[in-house]
Amino acid sequence: MNNRLEGKTVIVTGAAGGIGEVLCVKLAERGMNVVLTGRRKEALEAVAAKVEQVGGKACVCAGDLADIGFLDELLARSESVFGGVDVLINNAGLSHRCSVEEMMPELFESIMRVNVQAPYFLCQKAVPYLRTSDFATIINIGSVVSHKGYPLQSVYAASKHALLGFSKSLANEVFQENIRVHVISPGSVFTDMIASVRPDLSPEGMILPEDMAEIVLFYLDHRHTNAVIDEIEVHRVTKEPFA
Ligand SMILES: NC(=O)c1ccc[n+]([C@@H]2O[C@H](COP(=O)([O-])OP(=O)(O)OC[C@H]3O[C@@H](n4cnc5c(N)ncnc54)[C@H](OP(=O)(O)O)[C@@H]3O)[C@@H](O)[C@H]2O)c1
Repeated sequence: MNNRLEGKTVIVTGAAGGIGEVLCVKLAERGMNVVLTGRRKEALEAVAAKVEQVGGKACVCAGDLADIGFLDELLARSESVFGGVDVLINNAGLSHRCSVEEMMPELFESIMRVNVQAPYFLCQKAVPYLRTSDFATIINIGSVVSHKGYPLQSVYAASKHALLGFSKSLANEVFQENIRVHVISPGSVFTDMIASVRPDLSPEGMILPEDMAEIVLFYLDHRHTNAVIDEIEVHRVTKEPFA
């Protein structure tokens, strides 16, 4: 296969573990330069070492995505180290399991900042860089709760609905400039997050982070086709289909 990903630069948020970690390694295996971000510098450096082990180039830029000033720093690092950005994957996310009555305003705000404000302004700030790329792609990681409202996940659901709405609007603002905006909306993925949000679920049959990486690669491998898939909804094998 002609590997069009070779030498392209991807920013992955939430790169220190879970889905983000696997994304970084799989994209590096395909020759992409990877900018890794998250708050935990040491954990990011451990993932960067894995990226380098598979022959990729890595740049760690640790910081808090809730801080809008940090988003400028992140893009500036990507430009100074790799000359720009071709693909932005908004993967970082926060969730919390509690009832509407228990939710505290501070927690509400921190979830909204990471799940909505950060991708919104990172996309805003990335668009000028993406305009100069022949591979310009944004992939926002939504959730099955982008479409549904499960109990005890109200702020998480509100944030992922917002991310989907934002993605639809942005996609329509930029598609004529050849910038693609996609969403992946998964059900339960086997990471630390699901253990805290759905302790009732058995890990058996959950989507794996590697499956998520395959879907991201599907989008990127089809970057130059005329057939565009805006959103991919994906559920665990143990969940009833079309539910
Ligand atoms: N696991 C699931 O079942 C599932 C299902 C549907 C959708 N998703 C979505 O998939 C994405 C990845 O989730 P995951 O399952 O891989 O969870 P995870 O392992 O908890 O990863 C989330 C990442 O977000 C980063 N993050 C959180 N707050 C941050 C902040 N303020 N600044 C910078 N980074 C921050 C964390 O890094 P640091 O701690 O280093 O900051 C962490 O690496 C999320 O958007 C999640 O909503 C997950």
